[in-house]
Amino acid sequence: MNQDELKALVGRAALAHVQPGTVIGVGTGSTVNCFIDALATMTPRIAGAVSSSEKSTERLRAHGIPVLDCNAVERLPVYVDGADEIDHGGHMIKGGGAALTREKIVADIAERFVCIADESKRVDTLGRFPLPVEVIPMAAAQVARRLRALGGEPVLRQGVVTDNGGHILDVRGLAIIDPLAMEAEINQWPGVVTVGIFARNRASVCLLGTAQGVKTLTFPG
Ligand code: 5RP
Repeated sequence: MNQDELKALVGRAALAHVQPGTVIGVGTGSTVNCFIDALATMTPRIAGAVSSSEKSTERLRAHGIPVLDCNAVERLPVYVDGADEIDHGGHMIKGGGAALTREKIVADIAERFVCIADESKRVDTLGRFPLPVEVIPMAAAQVARRLRALGGEPVLRQGVVTDNGGHILDVRGLAIIDPLAMEAEINQWPGVVTVGIFARNRASVCLLGTAQGVKTLTFPG
């Protein structure tokens, strides 16, 4: 199976974690696009979705799935999203699609985070994928200096403005041994909107697409 087939496989497998008639959280990216397309085939349907990006909103609406304002929803039973990397504890790097801030907001109101990913995303230590950091544009240079002091090599993602009007720094060279601590450290710097480490909002379960089929990894606690 190629990577696209693995993404479609886990996109369909995530339906087993969705209750018809509920409102769910929906992430962003090519794997999530497969999930949204699978959602459209579900009968009975979900009541609606809270979306993590304008792109996902557009796709959900194209399938006739109602999209609700995040502020109108107190709790979601489940949030389904992809990842750029996921480790043995369910900690993730996200933001390859520049939607990290809204993704973290929607994940924060969900009881369970169902990560859908192909097996190339599974790592022992986070940090091979360049870590995205969304910043307020006027803070980009200072946040970049701080990231260099941590040992990273930040590069401004060219031509990208997030749905929130932010810019993205992609940081190479960080070995993220303690994801919770690094998330807390970077998030407190002035001008950082969100760091793409999802440790506080880590996955509850990961549906990993492998050549042998869908492998379910659970991360209790
Ligand atoms: C977007 C994300 C995506 O979940 C992540 O980039 C994975 O994307 P894909 O499913 O296309 O590989 O964090 O901001």
